[in-house]
Amino acid sequence: MFNTLFLKPVRSMPAKVSMNVDGLDMDNIPQHVAIIMDGNGRWAKARGKIRTQGHKVGAETLKTIVRAADTLGIKAITAYAFSTENWKRPVTEVHFIMELLSRYLTSEIEEFKENNVQVRFMGSREGLPDIVTEKMDHAIEETKNDTGIILNLAINYGGQAEILHAVKSIAQQVADGTLKVEDIDAPVFENNLYSKGLPAPDLLIRTGGDLRVSNFLLWQIAYSEIWTTQVFWPDFTPDMLVEAIKMYQKRERRFGGLVQK
Ligand code: IPE
Ligand code: IPE
Ligand code: MG
Repeated sequence: MFNTLFLKPVRSMPAKVSMNVDGLDMDNIPQHVAIIMDGNGRWAKARGKIRTQGHKVGAETLKTIVRAADTLGIKAITAYAFSTENWKRPVTEVHFIMELLSRYLTSEIEEFKENNVQVRFMGSREGLPDIVTEKMDHAIEETKNDTGIILNLAINYGGQAEILHAVKSIAQQVADGTLKVEDIDAPVFENNLYSKGLPAPDLLIRTGGDLRVSNFLLWQIAYSEIWTTQVFWPDFTPDMLVEAIKMYQKRERRFGGLVQK
């Protein structure tokens, strides 16, 4: 018999999310999972649709996966929604994604609150339309006291830009005399990253089949376990999340040290 978890039905979401957790060690669930949600455009193309339809379905997939992650006991999801390099895309696609983000943040607020989801963001606000940054602020404000899963959306995010941002902020503190050069260490550096307050991801998932990090969380993934799938993001399911976690549970995390046998 499969050991299946069911989530309660929530408005505007699929009636229920079910997954087969057979064989999953519920005492060794990754706390923080980062996801490169890739393959939306190829998913659409394979169905004779325009690329943006892939983004639309991809946004639905994220809702389902956040609910599944919450049910499994994952404490935080960092999802790569728009990179600093994605501005290179045709303006129509960029507009569509901005519009989609804005609509997502509006339509899902009640959902997040009902499910105790705390929304956070990482990335630069520079260049984002006001309507998007306003919705971001609203989502932060409305969910700041939620104590459930953290949904950390990487929007206009790039790992290199994040590191430069941290370096500038640290340099400014040194110039101001509030920080000494000899006091700069990893915790100080991490406090100046957009991910401040979140532990490093235990597991990094990339859909869409490409084996690269595409400027995602360059500092934070130093010791993350990586799992990739050929499946395009709109087709990603809770069962695939479980599959990724099962693989994670088989890995031996050494962090550069030795594991006592
Ligand atoms: C990921 O899907 C979503 C974003 C980058 C915004 P893509 O749009 O990159 O889809 P593919 O990789 O071209 O199929
Ligand atoms: C990474 O996917 C960015 C997001 C998923 C938001 P890309 O599609 O931008 O990455 P590349 O261009 O294939 O490396
Ligand atoms: Mg892509």
